[in-house]
Amino acid sequence: MLDIDVRAKRAVTASGSVTASEIVHATHTPKGIHMVHAEMPVHREYGIAFEMAGGDLPPGIYWWKATEGLSVRTVETGGRRYVVCVGQEHKVGIHNAGAGLLALETLAQKHFGQQEITHRWSAQNYRGADGLPYIGRNNDGFIATGFAADGLTWGTVAARLIAAQLAGQQPAFAGHVVPNRLNPVKGAKNILQENVTVVKQLLKDYLTGRQEEKLPTTAAGDSAIVDVEGESFAAYRAPDGELFAVSNVCPHMGCKVHWNSVETSWDCPCHGSRFRPDGTVIEGPALSPLARKLPPTLGG
Ligand code: FES
Repeated sequence: MLDIDVRAKRAVTASGSVTASEIVHATHTPKGIHMVHAEMPVHREYGIAFEMAGGDLPPGIYWWKATEGLSVRTVETGGRRYVVCVGQEHKVGIHNAGAGLLALETLAQKHFGQQEITHRWSAQNYRGADGLPYIGRNNDGFIATGFAADGLTWGTVAARLIAAQLAGQQPAFAGHVVPNRLNPVKGAKNILQENVTVVKQLLKDYLTGRQEEKLPTTAAGDSAIVDVEGESFAAYRAPDGELFAVSNVCPHMGCKVHWNSVETSWDCPCHGSRFRPDGTVIEGPALSPLARKLPPTLGG
């Protein structure tokens, strides 16, 4: 998705544009700028899977000691049975991704012993300020977001609610999840907390020089925020030596992106937009990529 023209009800993608009588943002978090972005904290959780040597777990999903924030389940695929451990929330863009993954592996090891981990991944979730999602009409179209980690349930609810609303019905439940339901008193604490985080991050990144590295010292596999002639860029040198240099300013609302070493992406701490090393959008509210800076223009 490259652009949404709300007046013309047109969505523009790399392979063409679509015009429709209504636009539904079924995109995890709505694209572009929406009030709900100021209300939703964004977190990443890591996941690992392994074939358990000895013993077994009965079917089901288990939340393992709430304070540890670990959920455990089994999955069968390709004739193999895996234990899947997911957990511990980390604020997008302002945590150490490697340390987050290591913490999960250490926790799993504590409960299941030393295992050979076959799969590692992560995903992020958006949570409504009052614990409920935002589903329904929101200015220019329909949105469905804030599912926290319950996307299977809320995704189904959202599909039914929005389909009913598009057909002119108004289900009783719709009022509980309507996007503009929060009043200052009801959502104040969480909204304030979320925006304090955003403002603090903005100030920190803009008032302090995060790094002052030079491109020649950026080794293969490394990332750096580099200053060239007074301007900062986000640089990443791929293992094969290719250098990617992009703007470090998120095109959504101007926060500065941070490197995620586990997923080799630039992540924005403000509303969770994520970008590949070449700047293209992976996910989040940002519609446009991080501006590409060609290495020759950076000098070296
Ligand atoms: S995602 Fe909103 S400023 Fe980056």
